[in-house]
Amino acid sequence: MKKGLFITFEGIEGSGKSTQIIQLADYLKMKGRGVVVTREPGGTLIGSAIRKILLDPKFSKMDYHAEVLLYAADRAQHVAEVVEPALKNGDIVISDRYIDSSVAYQHYGRSLPLDFILDVNKYAIQGLKPDLTFLLAVPVALGLKRATQVAADRIEQESVEFHERVEAGFQELAASEPARWRTIDGTRSIDEVHKEIIKAVGMLIKM
Ligand code: ADP
Ligand code: TYD
Repeated sequence: MKKGLFITFEGIEGSGKSTQIIQLADYLKMKGRGVVVTREPGGTLIGSAIRKILLDPKFSKMDYHAEVLLYAADRAQHVAEVVEPALKNGDIVISDRYIDSSVAYQHYGRSLPLDFILDVNKYAIQGLKPDLTFLLAVPVALGLKRATQVAADRIEQESVEFHERVEAGFQELAASEPARWRTIDGTRSIDEVHKEIIKAVGMLIKM
């Protein structure tokens, strides 16, 4: 039985997800809420090992189906070990990425069939959908410039066209389910984006 609130952040690399998640978590904790901050891939010990395989540039020959299955394996462990227990406990769970990233990157980005991704992930998420999903929208050039100031990982090394397809995919997902998604202009200042996010969260819970 779920009692907490499940919030996810989506967007391309460098859209500002991690920055905003830290600020939102601090704000909610200040308001006395129980908050669990987590991420995919790598929200568990097993997930950290899977993440290393997924992002290592030396695995440039990874089969796209293997990629989907590895992200889903990470997700299955993450939902079972972190997200479900925290929600049962009544916490607010904030995750940096969830199943929408698999649809955006592996369906829109890699052009794999949507059904394949949804079928595989059915076993990983066990019916658990986010209550609220933020899309931090930024132009690809800006996101990649922000993200690749340190060495680019296996996914970041993909072409600009790949990242354009992913960003367009996120926009399509957000438009198709407006009750769950809030699209935020991520090009504005960190503080302006934060204020819009807490306004949206405030509409779901009393703060
Ligand atoms: P993500 O988690 O989406 O990859 P990050 O939060 O790690 O993105 O941000 C990537 C980089 O961009 C960091 O150096 C961060 O400080 C910077 N950054 C994040 N949000 C903004 C913003 N609104 N304006 C300018 N720089 C930002
Ligand atoms: P990460 O460093 O966490 O990126 P960011 O800081 O931008 O969130 O790397 C995760 C990478 O994995 C990122 O390029 C997106 C990609 N990804 C997928 O391709 N499919 C997925 O299902 C997930 C969760 C992430």
